[in-house]
Amino acid sequence: MTNLTQKQLDSHWMAYTGNRQFKQDPRIITKASGAYYTDDKGRKIFDGLSGLWTCGLGHNVAEINEAVAEQIKTLDYSPAFQFGHEKSFQLSEKITEFLPTELNRVFFTGSGSESVDTALKVARAYWRKKGMGTKTKFIGRAKGYHGAGISGFSVGGIPANRTLYGQGLDSYHLPHTQVPGTEFTNGMAKQGAERADDLLNLITMHDASNIAAVIVEPMSGSAGVIVPPQGYLERLREICDQHNILLIFDEVITGFGRMGGDCGAIEFGVTPDVMTMAKQITNGAIPLGAVAFKQEIYDTFMEHGGPEYMLELPHGYTYSAHPVACAAGLASLEKIRSENLIARVKEMSGYFGDAVHSLRSSSTLITDIRNYGFAAGITLAAPDGEPAKRPFQVAMDMWEKGFYVRFGGDTIQLAPPFITESEEIDRLIDALSDSFHKLA
Ligand SMILES: Cc1ncc(COP(=O)(O)O)c(C=O)c1O
Repeated sequence: MTNLTQKQLDSHWMAYTGNRQFKQDPRIITKASGAYYTDDKGRKIFDGLSGLWTCGLGHNVAEINEAVAEQIKTLDYSPAFQFGHEKSFQLSEKITEFLPTELNRVFFTGSGSESVDTALKVARAYWRKKGMGTKTKFIGRAKGYHGAGISGFSVGGIPANRTLYGQGLDSYHLPHTQVPGTEFTNGMAKQGAERADDLLNLITMHDASNIAAVIVEPMSGSAGVIVPPQGYLERLREICDQHNILLIFDEVITGFGRMGGDCGAIEFGVTPDVMTMAKQITNGAIPLGAVAFKQEIYDTFMEHGGPEYMLELPHGYTYSAHPVACAAGLASLEKIRSENLIARVKEMSGYFGDAVHSLRSSSTLITDIRNYGFAAGITLAAPDGEPAKRPFQVAMDMWEKGFYVRFGGDTIQLAPPFITESEEIDRLIDALSDSFHKLA
């Protein structure tokens, strides 16, 4: 049991948490190793979402721990502006090994939200540098999640994350790709690519001369794993090319293996102009985000940078390329490669997908199941008009049984660590089946 006092519990306003409910019945995690947490009651809990889509390698990874310890003893911090340290250059090169070759210039941030902010700011500034300063509007997508910043919620499309916050950036939204008739598709649906054509309507409405960029997650994660329909991303790419609009892939979840490919762009075969990343870079051990750009974007800033002592891009964060985070990133990405973990995800994703779809019969309230790689989303109906209630009940029941799964909106989300064994998938699915049965 936790020794925390009520005063301590009350003093922390927790992120994206039902604080009142949590503080009555705190779920306190004390340790983690491999695919498991330990809670304050000493129970072992399977990590069904790899932290927050962060810890594909599992927890307490010796190589990352050692790299962090070594780095903090050697160089704990160095100024992010005007001075450098070797690890950031090594890591940027390493990151590009996981991306399409055209994305070869990497900017560091401290989180996914900062990466999105960076991508959007650079998109506007890029057009201005090219003499097209009217290109300032952004196009996001319904159900998209792009972080908690003002820019992220503006282009994001999850209503609950938007309604409280008033005016954001000048942004418009494509429809999501959950097309009726594609429910319970294992992998990419055949229908739905036509939803990319809505971009043409937005271009007609606002004119390409006013639009800086389109930003989408190749696979929407936080909205409950919405997999791109076949041909959809290709069509977005085509329209952006035809109308001189930058295409940004937000790969904060899909980067570095979750899809069974090096990143979503490679797995789905479509190259954006800009890619945002975070989470899995350091395996969640230390906060770090990154944004990769096509070289032409970088070169545009260099060519229009003024005298060489001047900044080409007045933008950055105190913790951009933090040396300890870079050390963690290098160790994490090296381990993903040396253990061949992305191939493992690909190999086991069929097993995982079939297992997840076997849940369909466990409750009449399940209206959809979607999956790709090591990610799955299960939608639950809300006959009483309270869509978030049943996912919460399922997640709490799972926690009681020793499983952590994410509940968000009307969905349950699964993203097991890349190291998960098939028996662990079986146990997770059995436990979920039991929890769903209790709902019916
Ligand atoms: C696609 C995507 N973009 C951005 C973010 C924001 O990342 P962070 O929470 O590190 O700011 C997230 C977080 O879940 C995400 O899934």
